[in-house]
Amino acid sequence: MKKILFATSEAVPFIKTGGLADVAGALPKCFDKKYFDVRVILPKYGCMAQKWKDQMQYVTHFYMDIGSRNCYVGIMQMEYEGIQFYFIDNEYYFSGPQPYEGGPWDLEKFAYFSKAVLSVLPVLDFRPDIIHCHDWQTGLVPVYLHDSFQGGEFFRGIKTVITIHNLKFQGVWDVKTVQGITGLSDYYFAPDKLEAYKDANYLKGGIVFADAVTTVSNTYAEEIKTPFYGERLEGLMCARSNSLRGIVNGIDYKEYNPETDPYIVKNYNATTFRKEKVKNKIALQKELGLEQNKNTMMIGMVSRLTDQKGFDLVAYIMDELCQDAVQIVALGTGEARYENMFRHFDWKYHGKVSALIYYSEEMSHKVYASCDAFLMPSLFEPCGLSQLMSLRYGTVPIVRETGGLKDTVEPYNEYENTGTGFSFCNYNAHEMLGVIRNAERIYYDKKREWNKIVDRAMAADFSWEHSAGQYEEMYNWLIGE
Ligand code: ADP
Ligand code: GLC
Repeated sequence: MKKILFATSEAVPFIKTGGLADVAGALPKCFDKKYFDVRVILPKYGCMAQKWKDQMQYVTHFYMDIGSRNCYVGIMQMEYEGIQFYFIDNEYYFSGPQPYEGGPWDLEKFAYFSKAVLSVLPVLDFRPDIIHCHDWQTGLVPVYLHDSFQGGEFFRGIKTVITIHNLKFQGVWDVKTVQGITGLSDYYFAPDKLEAYKDANYLKGGIVFADAVTTVSNTYAEEIKTPFYGERLEGLMCARSNSLRGIVNGIDYKEYNPETDPYIVKNYNATTFRKEKVKNKIALQKELGLEQNKNTMMIGMVSRLTDQKGFDLVAYIMDELCQDAVQIVALGTGEARYENMFRHFDWKYHGKVSALIYYSEEMSHKVYASCDAFLMPSLFEPCGLSQLMSLRYGTVPIVRETGGLKDTVEPYNEYENTGTGFSFCNYNAHEMLGVIRNAERIYYDKKREWNKIVDRAMAADFSWEHSAGQYEEMYNWLIGE
């Protein structure tokens, strides 16, 4: 039995700010249980729902040195859907209103978490063959493993993997502060280790010290070797390209299933969608106070409202787009300028545009199920899960050809009758508008063709099985079998 430990800063259903939580919650369930014992460790945040905190059982606690501090480390555990979850408990670090608050405080929190992940293993008597880290928050796990855990038999030979979900976030602060926080020696603060452009960089540390590096799509794995997408680490990504591979994300096909989804008004599947899917649209129009018309093309967005997701393009053409026979539903939170942009257009085109500036799992399912098309014009997108959810619900994605969007949405070809969505290449608002209008044309004038796109979208398989197999292969290779 091979033992794998996922170290992550978020995982569904316990805590989620983005796609990382979906991956860390769903992927562990998809490994072959005959050969793999996969467990997950994450912080116990004060902001987790009470119902989860109530179900956690206390295991033990001890104290751990880090920098000049001596910190409490509590261990809680809970089995959920067949997976063993461990939670690191420390109220000093994890009682904030959300998992990330920005600045050096986050760096201190996750240095503590990364060291605690290693410290609890002997206490739990769980020796993983591989620790699979995710993003900068766990970038110091391979570094600490290299630094202070090599003495005894227990840790020797443990391998590490780091998955980059988003290269934009690296965990960067000045060297002096980070040295104080982490207690790591001068040796680590050199340009071939944690240091990048004079600052200390957690993600870089993880990438340098991990045995393998992955990211969440093939295209993004290539893109991050170039300056535009490389976030100033393209040199490092090139240097590590032999150990870098792209494994595309999946989604939880049980959780996201139009046939059984309890959040939506009318369930449907690949054979019944022609009649039934539209009932969700009508219900949503009613709920949101949009003009009730089953024929109007509804375009949805569910997203963090940040630059990454291409909302400046959307802002630029909203007035023009709103001249067309479309409705727009945007669910998201994030940068104030985008929140206000959608509020403004909701006010200006009342009955046509609905701005839902909040976070709601339930509403997100309603949007995926009700809309005809889903817009995701990202500037960059390591993988993207929203377009996969849309495909699953027969909601035709309109995307920019970058990262995982390029790898998962096949552009519609009118002449060959192929494709699962619409896409454009350049980061240009009118190129995007042109493609949206082409989608409108097919939707209104060639409904049978549109429905065939939906057929193909719903038939595309982005469940986790295939990708989990690729992770298994990598684990086997790392363990040497
Ligand atoms: P990222 O991780 O970059 O935010 P992904 O597409 O990988 O993008 O994943 C985003 C996840 O967060 C999806 O599960 C999406 O449904 C969800 N999500 C984003 N914003 C909201 C929101 N306001 N309400 C509910 N779910 C949201
Ligand atoms: C990141 C990326 C997103 C990806 C997700 C899960 O948040 O922005 O593209 O799908 O991680 O890997």
